Amino acid sequence: MPKSATTTPPQQKNTAKAPAPAPSGSEGSLEVKDSRTSKGYSIPIADNAIRATELKKVKSSDPEDLGLVSYDPAFLNTASCRSAITYIDGDKGILRYRGYPIEQLAESASFLEVAWLLRHGELPNQKEYDQFVHDITFHTYVHENMRKFLEGFRYDAHPMAMLNSSIAALASFYPSARNIFDETERNISIIRLLAKTPTIAAFSYRHVKGLPFVYPDNRLSYVENFLSMIARMTESKYEANPIFTRALEILFILHADHEQNCSTNAVRAVGSSHVDPFSAVSAGVAALFGPLHGGANEQVLRMIKEIGTVKNVPGFIENVKSGEGGKLMGFGHRVYKSYDPRAKIVKKLADEVFDVVGVDKDLETALELERIALSDEYFISRKLYPNVDFYTGLIYRSMAFPTDFFTVLFAIGRMPGWLAQWEEMLLDKEQKIARPRQIYTGLGERPYKSRLKNPRPD
Ligand code: CMC
Repeated sequence: MPKSATTTPPQQKNTAKAPAPAPSGSEGSLEVKDSRTSKGYSIPIADNAIRATELKKVKSSDPEDLGLVSYDPAFLNTASCRSAITYIDGDKGILRYRGYPIEQLAESASFLEVAWLLRHGELPNQKEYDQFVHDITFHTYVHENMRKFLEGFRYDAHPMAMLNSSIAALASFYPSARNIFDETERNISIIRLLAKTPTIAAFSYRHVKGLPFVYPDNRLSYVENFLSMIARMTESKYEANPIFTRALEILFILHADHEQNCSTNAVRAVGSSHVDPFSAVSAGVAALFGPLHGGANEQVLRMIKEIGTVKNVPGFIENVKSGEGGKLMGFGHRVYKSYDPRAKIVKKLADEVFDVVGVDKDLETALELERIALSDEYFISRKLYPNVDFYTGLIYRSMAFPTDFFTVLFAIGRMPGWLAQWEEMLLDKEQKIARPRQIYTGLGERPYKSRLKNPRPD
């Protein structure tokens, strides 16, 4: 293994024959007429998109009119960036990282190979990979003050709250990370985040369990080291169950990126203020915590527990349909409208893990839930299929991870994607501070007249 300190990797040259670009719409223009003024406008179309700023030219006869804005709450049909990292075709259930199908990466790649790929656009050669693994391995330790910081949390703190604030706190340990346009600084921050996130995650786990922290073991692989920090007790070298190691490696790869999802959008938006990467990524962890996003894996298990037994499933589904029972967690996706390709892989993986640990009543309930939902008109007509979070929780639980911890595992997997997207955003000359417009719905001007007795006491 190379011994040199962290180096900035050289820009890669792609010597292979260029693969076909992802499909994009043809160029042209959108010819529109404003019925208020009868004026016509020609709005250029490129990459199947129009620029929202073109709409500013469309003005009413009011001289103070600033022009049209596009109104798109929750970004249902707005592209916020150009990105070369991840391609999704939601109708066909396709997911590719830098052109490579997720199925092939999950089958054969390592998580750190995928992490490199996401950032650099090409798979690493042996030398680059060895150096990268070396760099990650030797940055897994956290400052002892971080340990004290973690010890300050209550025994029942949610591990996502601990992860979120600890990643933000890393900014205080590495102030030079604020030099985000220095390539060397960016590189070491990215290495640190990839290396230290599993350590912080494992320390949070041990804190909640009341167990002593286990320090990183540099002899182990990324995933084995994580499992060692989670589960090692008195043994001198922890040997993880190889089925669990492989399962976790695959799950991390499946979660590594997913284009402009809620947490990645948060990282990009916060990062667009040019704050340091630790602060930007902590925003991603916060977004992932939510039950509609990464927090869904935790909620799936809670929902299955609440249902109790297979015989209660039909009643539960009826409650979901009537709107009384909330949503069917682990179902539905903003982009996938046929199936989530990650869910397909996870389901197969779950079968392999359950062969080792056995099937229990919660799994039976989950399978019955899936069977009924997939044949029910409500879910079929709305194109609601199991997403990645439906099965991952069941695998994590069979590996004895506590329910609270599931989303932390998702966050470890998503880290390379957040970082690749953060850097792509920073280096994109078209990007500026993210600052959406609004449609003001409040009152017009009115004079201040306080309703307090003494609004400004001396
Ligand atoms: N259970 C029941 N009904 C649902 C569900 C669900 N899980 N998801 C959507 N619907 C209904 C929704 O009520 C709406 O019905 P109607 O047309 O009658 O009003 C219709 O389907 C369209 O849903 P939507 O809310 O417009 O869809 P969205 O794209 O805004 O939301 C979602 C996507 C993932 C937030 C949503 O499907 C959901 O809340 N699912 C459950 C939470 C979940 O599993 N999240 C994990 C997502 S995948 C991994 C990740 O991103 O972390």
